[in-house]
Amino acid sequence: MNKSNLIVLDNVRLYGTTHLIWLQAGNGYRSALPGQFMMVTCGDSEAGYPDPLLGRAMSIYRLELHDDYVRLGILYDVVGVGTRWLSKRSPGDALEVLGPLGNGFKPDLSLRNMLLVGGGIGIAPLIWLSDWLTDRGAAVALIAGARSIQGIFPKELLRPEVEFISVTEDGTLGQKGLVTEPYRQLLSWSDQSFACGPDPMFEALHSVLLDVSPSTELQALLEARMACGFGVCYSCAVFPKNAGGVKLVCTDGPMINSRTLYG
Ligand SMILES: Cc1cc2nc3c(=O)[nH]c(=O)nc-3n(C[C@H](O)[C@H](O)[C@H](O)COP(=O)(O)OP(=O)(O)OC[C@H]3O[C@@H](n4cnc5c(N)ncnc54)[C@H](O)[C@@H]3O)c2cc1C
Ligand code: FES
Repeated sequence: MNKSNLIVLDNVRLYGTTHLIWLQAGNGYRSALPGQFMMVTCGDSEAGYPDPLLGRAMSIYRLELHDDYVRLGILYDVVGVGTRWLSKRSPGDALEVLGPLGNGFKPDLSLRNMLLVGGGIGIAPLIWLSDWLTDRGAAVALIAGARSIQGIFPKELLRPEVEFISVTEDGTLGQKGLVTEPYRQLLSWSDQSFACGPDPMFEALHSVLLDVSPSTELQALLEARMACGFGVCYSCAVFPKNAGGVKLVCTDGPMINSRTLYG
């Protein structure tokens, strides 16, 4: 983990309220893994301190290794002051970024069929996971859920070998309903599953897992309000049912097994 200034290569709105920023990163990111994140300073610091002061946690969306640099993407929803500031950065601007941070997904590469589930912007870290798994010979199905078509990641940006299932609550794209339904259908095919999205989604997926395929594992990538990102402030503390005490999402996670979370 280190703090560095990364140069903006590109920054565009990709779909709905979701933007994609590409950064030129250093060699420290070569060993990063899917599910890891960064704390991005999302404010100007001309007055001495950035405003807003606290960094914003962002997952690594994709990582491309070049001979002399690393191209790193962040897929982000514009929801407030920090992400609005981020959406206004232009190529050539520098971003202060601390990372890579946290413990990401831990796929078992002796298994073959991998099922990925993203709720809303939770799709962001799963895109790189899908690249990473297909590079290693796994078969990948990715379920993307959103309220409507405006929240669904463009299928054409995925590897062609990834099976993509979109689900919208209003039925404007793909199946109408929630991600739990295709998850239930695909669980008997899958050997291991991975999810990122809101907490109620993890809980619903975990209860389907217990019902259909209790011998398999669901790895959940948690979100929490984070002030530091590296284990000092305790703003991200959670109390999983089976952990025997407190866990910090930033350093123990963000990946926590659904059995640890819910029993
Ligand atoms: C490990 C981790 C990885 C993340 N990866 C991504 C990512 O790849 N792309 C992305 O768009 N977002 C991601 N987030 C969420 C992102 O950090 C917040 O959306 C961001 O901090 C909002 O900043 P803001 O200043 O724009 O919004 P604020 O003005 O701070 O808040 C705007 C709204 O967003 C809500 N919010 C703020 N922070 C969070 C949070 N951490 N979790 C849930 N809701 C929040 C607030 O309650 C409020 O309703 C991640 C969060 C974590 C903890
Ligand atoms: S964000 Fe500070 S301890 Fe986790």
